[in-house]
This record gives sequence, C-alpha cells and structure tokens, in this order.
Amino acid sequence: MADVRLPPGITGVHVLPADHHDGPWDSIIVPPGTKEQLLGTAVLVLRHGRALQSLSGPPHGLIVLAGPPGTGKSTLCQGLAQAAAVAVARRGATTFVEVDPHAFPSELLGESQRAVRRLFTETLPELAARRPHTIVLVDEVEALAVRRSTASFETNPVDVHRATDAVLAGLDALRATCPHLLLLATTNFTAAVDEAVLSRADLVLELDLPDEEVLARIIGSSLAELAALWPPLRHLAEDAALHAKLAGRCVGFDGRRARKVILASVAQRPELAADPAQLTAEDLFAAVEAAAGTVTGRR
Ligand SMILES: Nc1ncnc2c1ncn2[C@@H]1O[C@H](COP(=O)(O)OP(=O)(O)O)[C@@H](O)[C@H]1O
Ligand SMILES: [Mg+2]
Repeated sequence: MADVRLPPGITGVHVLPADHHDGPWDSIIVPPGTKEQLLGTAVLVLRHGRALQSLSGPPHGLIVLAGPPGTGKSTLCQGLAQAAAVAVARRGATTFVEVDPHAFPSELLGESQRAVRRLFTETLPELAARRPHTIVLVDEVEALAVRRSTASFETNPVDVHRATDAVLAGLDALRATCPHLLLLATTNFTAAVDEAVLSRADLVLELDLPDEEVLARIIGSSLAELAALWPPLRHLAEDAALHAKLAGRCVGFDGRRARKVILASVAQRPELAADPAQLTAEDLFAAVEAAAGTVTGRR
C-alpha cells in the first residue's frame, strides 16, 4: 500500500468512516467505561475543539495510550478513529493520518528537529484542511518525544533532545492552527515519554496486562473466530468454564500472546493444522503450557 506521494514520516492517509472497519474497536476487550471515555474525549475535540479554545484551560486534543506491548494500544487507536469518525459522520468525513515516529532521522544533528517541525507546522495542517475532521495517530511516540530529564547525553544524541523540544513546540503550534484536530499517541513505556508532552494530554489511559477475566474473554473471542471458520469448534468457543480454566494458566500473558496461543494450538501437529476442526481442549491446554513455559523461561 506504498504511496510514493505521502509526505515524510507519514505512513498512511485514510478516509473514515470506512466500510468493514469496525473490527479493531470490537476486538479489544477493556474494563467497562474505557471505550466511552476514549470516544467522549475524541468527539469533544473533533466537534467542539474550536469553541473550547475560549476556555482558560483549552484541550490540547491529545490522547495518550500507555501500557506494556501487546495490550491492544495500537488496535484500540485504529478502532477509536473509526468509532469517532462514525460519531461525527453527519457533519462530514474524517481524515485518518498515521505517523511513524521511527521514520524520522535522528543521526544527523538538526535533521529530525527540522523534520518534526515540518510535520507539525506544514504537513499536518495541510492534511487537516482537506476534511472537516482529522485524527492523527503517532504510534510509539517515545521514539520522538524522549523524556529529556532522564535521557543521557551519552546514549542519546543532542538531536534527540532537540526533537523533543520540536515536538512540544509543534504540539502548541498545531493546537493554535488546528484546534479540532485529534492526536492519538501510544507508548509502551510512559516513563520514557517527556513529562511536558504527557502534561499536555487531555486523557492518559494506562492499559494493564489483562486479568484472568479479560484473558478468558480474549480466549473465548479467539475461539469464536476460529469457530466461524470451522463450525465444529463451536462447542469449544461456547465453553465458558474451559475459557476460565485456560485463562488461569495464562496469567501474565499480554492480549497478543493470549490470542496467539489459540492459533498456536492448531499448529501443534501437521494433521491438526490441515484440519483445525479436530482441535480439542487437550490441545488447547498443551499449547498454553508450552507458551507459559516460554514466558517463564524468558524471565
Ligand atoms: N485487551 C485485549 N483484548 C483483546 N485482544 C487484545 C487485547 N490486547 C491485545 N489484544 C490482541 O493483541 C493484538 C496486538 O495488539 P496491539 O494493538 O498491537 O498491542 P500494542 O499496540 O499495545 O502492542 C491485537 O490485534 C489483539 O488481537
Ligand atoms: Mg503497538
């Protein structure tokens, strides 16, 4: 899907709402109220961002999702973009812009600073002028806005510090020119993200590793997806007691790992891979034990 005309640092530009794009939002299982809070903040900025600039403490239009890898941050942001676009669709379409912070050069002194400044002061405002609503996703923002108070000058080039300064200046500039633009940022490591960037966030949502109850639901949903492809597996997908037992053995897994272990269970033997409808509860337990062993072994 490479588009040679995309500006530097931008990996995707999409128009939302898009048909059949509801999957990500529904696939991530989070504690009650979490999605409402995300969607509420998003809609407030998209719809009323301009009007709210008259407040003494106007929103920055920034939502930060933080948490360990594999807890669904990126997927939730993709889903939020679609859900928010649906919520405001009556007033027009939404441009969804994906930024890759790793795409900014940091080896050359001043290079990334200039690139970041251009992103916030030229590229994003130009994209935002296209449609009534704009949502920008900066996935793994810690690559861009490194915490200056702890970044050492030996391990981080001076340029990294300058890039963080450029991000802050850029955020403020963007707020002034595009108060209705929503910026979503994810980080695997809140402690690595600059405090001044975090303090500008209207919502910092910390996603934890799933607890047993959520793990059971992720396992159930993964089995339901398999059962949609191989209907004889429906009995496994509907067995809540089995999901709970498997979840008990998956404590410490992130959501990605929990989903992968179900897929791995089908790949344990060539005959089973050839005909996944033969999957049994024993196969599932065996796959979970194998994966749990790997997790423990890595510690
Ligand atoms: N809470 C969750 N509920 C359901 N699935 C999850 C959850 N967390 C992670 N996953 C699964 O793991 C995959 C990877 O998630 P991702 O959004 O890439 O995580 P992150 O960005 O936090 O590393 C998702 O596609 C999803 O299938
Ligand atoms: Mg991610």
